[in-house]
Amino acid sequence: MDKKWWHSAVVYEIYCKSFCDSDGDGIGDLRGVMSKLPMLKELGINCIWFTPIYTSPQVDNGYDVADYRSIDPAYGTLDDFRELLDMAHSMGIRVIMDVVVNHSSDEHEWFRESRKSKDNPYRNYYIWQPPKEDGSEPNNWGSYFREGNGSAWEFDEATGEYYFHQYSIKMPDLNWEYEPLRREVCDMLNWWLDLGVDGFRLDVFTRFKKTPGFPDTQKKPNELLDRNGFVVDQSMCTNIEGIHEIIHELYTEVFGKRECVTVGEGAGVWYGNALPYVHPDREELDMVYHFDLAYRGRLFISPDQFRRVQKKWAEVIEQGGWSVQYLSNHDSARQVSCYGCDSEAYRKASAKLLGVLVHTTPGTPFVYQGEEIGMTNVKYEAIEDYNCRYTVGDYGAMVASGVSPREAIDRLAPQSRDNARTPYQWDGTENAGFTSGKPWIKVNPRYEEINLESDRANDDSIFEFYKKLIALRKSCPAIVEGDLTFLFDGHESIISYTRSCEAQTLLVIANYSGDPVDFELPEEIAGGKWNRILSNTESSSPSLARRSLTPWEVEIYELVK
Ligand code: GLC
Repeated sequence: MDKKWWHSAVVYEIYCKSFCDSDGDGIGDLRGVMSKLPMLKELGINCIWFTPIYTSPQVDNGYDVADYRSIDPAYGTLDDFRELLDMAHSMGIRVIMDVVVNHSSDEHEWFRESRKSKDNPYRNYYIWQPPKEDGSEPNNWGSYFREGNGSAWEFDEATGEYYFHQYSIKMPDLNWEYEPLRREVCDMLNWWLDLGVDGFRLDVFTRFKKTPGFPDTQKKPNELLDRNGFVVDQSMCTNIEGIHEIIHELYTEVFGKRECVTVGEGAGVWYGNALPYVHPDREELDMVYHFDLAYRGRLFISPDQFRRVQKKWAEVIEQGGWSVQYLSNHDSARQVSCYGCDSEAYRKASAKLLGVLVHTTPGTPFVYQGEEIGMTNVKYEAIEDYNCRYTVGDYGAMVASGVSPREAIDRLAPQSRDNARTPYQWDGTENAGFTSGKPWIKVNPRYEEINLESDRANDDSIFEFYKKLIALRKSCPAIVEGDLTFLFDGHESIISYTRSCEAQTLLVIANYSGDPVDFELPEEIAGGKWNRILSNTESSSPSLARRSLTPWEVEIYELVK
């Protein structure tokens, strides 16, 4: 393996809007982030991924970009960003930007021009189609956010044609078939690299290309969510032939020209089709994060799923690719609430256990803000309190299908992306110390119990544990480059594996359940001399001779050679 800095790095995702508000307008901002950089340095992360901070009408919290070369005034200015970049770099922290170029905002200058006339120079920056003979939409594709009548096409009076939007009506898709658009995107990315950023996260890059000719999908409608015969079918616009050429072109024109890391949001990428995107010889991306394990809507992961997916992705790495490890981000609910247990009794233990799984399996770990203090899901009772486009859109569709509003909220709340977007809980004061004003989204009521200040005051906290976990990555070569071998295959609650390279062998044993479990180690392991290097349970004796684990207990051992 040709070692790169990001192989041994830990990336921290910042959702700026909810991180720290410095000026009391209820919205997180860059000065707020600057004030917290020392905390990130202390945590030990090496790189920040900023979700979009560009000028945006905020229909999808910045994933609707109105100007790719500026900072949204609510977050600060370009000068603030330069200052932040310098500060981060001086602390040894790199910064990567979220690049949202599957679509832009309809308020982007390009789209304002594009919709003016059929012969406008920007017309082909977007995807326009004439209506069918009866005036209806060009096909039956539905849009993810299920706005309006559910179609992915929106009629535009000015020119009498429809434009295509996979997401919001206010987020028209860009036309990647059009060379001047591609050149424009490359210029913009190079501009950010000139400014000093260290790389990019590519939003829904697998969806840049659409099925040629825009044929109807034959997929059956989802009775609860699809409306008016418009069907959400990701296969019509995901991993379409020619996508690799596009990503390779971005590599040739931008990524490959200088030191820069790239991580793609791999919608529709799984271990079976990932390698071409991430093998260095292909010159496309450095890594993608996939949805084989965690995603919005997956509320439980079984040990079998965990083992199967990890084994397969380890093969992708063995074949020369790379991967991302994460269990939650700004698009999912909180990991401790979904895959651990957020009760007072087990929140701490299970959050630490999940941390170990993410940080000791092959690939680069991504930490989502608040995960390091075990932030939990929230439940709002009224749909008006939700902001996530999926939650609001799905709610409308479900209610239109006859589901009661109460039931719709009960079903959607556990998977809403708003769970991850509540303000960061800095301390136990009003608004969790996030803002002196009115937060743009309601604070999680558990902030008095769960906050960074109280974690800091406690050696046994999740934050202190994450510090140790992140530090281990720097001192343990086996975590970065070791082989992965599972023990206890088929076991319904134990997740256990070794990571082994020439210099070192590590053993992880985790009780992925809320019940105690007895176990017996295979002879070849039990016969070795092991030193426990990290554990989430004080009381347990640091010896492998022990034959039981308490609920959510996890331990890491190193083989003494
Ligand atoms: C990606 C982003 C998500 C956004 C969507 C549309 O999935 O992570 O937050 O809503 O793309 O841009």
